[in-house]
Amino acid sequence: MQSSARLEENVGPVPHRSVLAAETLSLLEPSLGATAVDLTLGAGGHAEQLLEAVGPTGRVFGIDRDPEAIAHATARLLRFGNRFVALRGDHRDLVALLHGAGVFVVEAIVADLGISSLQLDDPRRGFSFRFDGPLDMRMDPTSGPSAADLLATMSEAELKDILRTYGEERMAGPIARAVVRERARRPLVRTHQLSEVVARAAGPAARRYRIHPATRTFQALRIAVNREVEGLEGLVADAVSLLRRGGRLAVISFHSLEDRAVKTSLRAMAERCVCPPGLPVCGCGREDLVRILTPRPVTPSPEEVESNPRSRSARLRAAERL
Ligand SMILES: C[S@@+](CC[C@H](N)C(=O)[O-])C[C@H]1O[C@@H](n2cnc3c(N)ncnc32)[C@H](O)[C@@H]1O
Repeated sequence: MQSSARLEENVGPVPHRSVLAAETLSLLEPSLGATAVDLTLGAGGHAEQLLEAVGPTGRVFGIDRDPEAIAHATARLLRFGNRFVALRGDHRDLVALLHGAGVFVVEAIVADLGISSLQLDDPRRGFSFRFDGPLDMRMDPTSGPSAADLLATMSEAELKDILRTYGEERMAGPIARAVVRERARRPLVRTHQLSEVVARAAGPAARRYRIHPATRTFQALRIAVNREVEGLEGLVADAVSLLRRGGRLAVISFHSLEDRAVKTSLRAMAERCVCPPGLPVCGCGREDLVRILTPRPVTPSPEEVESNPRSRSARLRAAERL
């Protein structure tokens, strides 16, 4: 059974607050003068914390594929001058992005996966059914198909599969059928159009939901549009490859599929050596690459969940480069 993903739609607009901020910083422990990377810059909260921690001689590189996040965080972090560098792009290209900026080894890397409140609370972006807007949902609005494009082209079976896998939606079948029926009448291009179709398809069963009936559909579509789960294991491996010995990586995920990919990837790098226990030096040539710092994922305190309900499904995992 998958754990519940971040169901952002159940709460009203809230200013973006960095999730598990103190826990992340204490696991990363960046030293004064260090170079650190934020793979998911967003509103710049975690990057700001890192900039403060690395002090006047340290540097932070922040990656985001959303031009609006880059602009927002750059304005927020202006006071740090050239100690902060924003890099626009997909973090799955992090090695190329950092090499392009002349960075080859770093001490701390953070990734806070998923969507930011800046994106979720902006009606023009189409991430939320709380506002009527275009069904876009692209984190990078300049590339790839939008949610409306996916809804127009996916088969009923594909749509059902996405709703099940990424949304854990029990009514995936009826919702997929209703979408296909609706799009034969008129194109599905607005958030409210979709949420109404979903609410009708979910029917009376949806009244038992604690959340709006369209919550899981919107989450699933967002994950599919942005291919959020693809390439996560490679991302973790690439991040580790950039760390110096003793450097640390922290990843916050919000969906059980993301958390599983992060866990699997870290484990594979922590359990490479096949030498018998007790050998003074590794003889198999497959030394472990990392030491896991979080045998169990760190989760937000009840106080954090109370003050920021969007944090409730967060899972933080961290590892140190050996
Ligand atoms: C949860 S927010 C990060 C918030 C940030 N940690 C803070 O404290 O303000 C996630 C950000 O990562 C970005 N993002 C998600 N997937 C990405 C990817 N594959 N490449 C680059 N940026 C990505 C999103 O655009 C979003 O701005």
